[in-house]
Amino acid sequence: MSPIRVVVHGALGKVGQEVVKATCQEPETELIGAIDLKASEAFLPLPDGSGKVPLSGDLSILNDCSADVMVDFSIAQAAMPAARLAAQKGINLVIGTTGLTADDIAEIEQLAAVHRIGAVVAPNFALGAVLMMHLAKVAARYMDYAEIIELHHHLKADSPSGTALATAKAMAEARDKPFSGPPEAAKPSDSRGMGVEGVAIHSVRLPGLMAHQEVILGAAGQILSIRHDTISRECYMPGVILAVKEVVKRQGLIYGLEKLLNLSGE
Ligand SMILES: NC(=O)c1ccc[n+]([C@@H]2O[C@H](COP(=O)([O-])OP(=O)(O)OC[C@H]3O[C@@H](n4cnc5c(N)ncnc54)[C@H](O)[C@@H]3O)[C@@H](O)[C@H]2O)c1
Repeated sequence: MSPIRVVVHGALGKVGQEVVKATCQEPETELIGAIDLKASEAFLPLPDGSGKVPLSGDLSILNDCSADVMVDFSIAQAAMPAARLAAQKGINLVIGTTGLTADDIAEIEQLAAVHRIGAVVAPNFALGAVLMMHLAKVAARYMDYAEIIELHHHLKADSPSGTALATAKAMAEARDKPFSGPPEAAKPSDSRGMGVEGVAIHSVRLPGLMAHQEVILGAAGQILSIRHDTISRECYMPGVILAVKEVVKRQGLIYGLEKLLNLSGE
């Protein structure tokens, strides 16, 4: 079988560079083009020294390449125009860029339906983080108190993190009664954390950290901690490569990496 032909949008960014490396290392994928606003050369040398691929600062590459998949780790404002053009060209989408609105996600779903392509959009491609959320949902059914400590590098603009908010909401949905924690109305400045669905979320921002989250559940006489630590951006690559392999086999929108993992036990 011929390899899946991949174009990376945001290829010179921190995650984009890892995607370039991963698609070159994976035998079932082939990098055929790269796009990044910062492009200053017409070609991107492959990290293994085996050659080079076209690189552009705009979307022109999408017009005349025969890519099967575009992987996007850029910025939200750039991701949507790229998704529209790629979809028109029949190129499947794997989007990790965050900050997309509900309208953007709805538009991607529409694009996938109209152009009969697959689209995987995942706010978190780290398998361990997805498993941490899954395990937290399972545990939430059995323990009435939960808090989340999320720790990130000091340059992260938002707090609490999207993953922490999504974890609290998913845990609350997994239960048949509310958590016994702080109410929704608790202020972010409260030293007891921000109440989301009865789960207090605490945000730590420090240089030296990357992305970490600990979900702590409590019941009489016992504590259960579920923790995920991101050590390097390589952690996203198994999830991205899985999505690239799956998106070419499917049509329509798949939101969240968990949908590709056959998780059970919920
Ligand atoms: N889903 C996940 O698991 C996951 C993990 C990490 C990061 N992210 C998200 O991925 C995105 C990229 O993260 P990063 O840390 O690599 O950021 P980064 O700033 O290092 O990289 C972004 C790249 O996009 C490029 N870019 C910006 N505007 C562009 C445009 N108009 N056209 C083409 N390229 C453009 C920039 O030049 C840069 O090289 C962010 O939205 C981030 O939140 C998602």
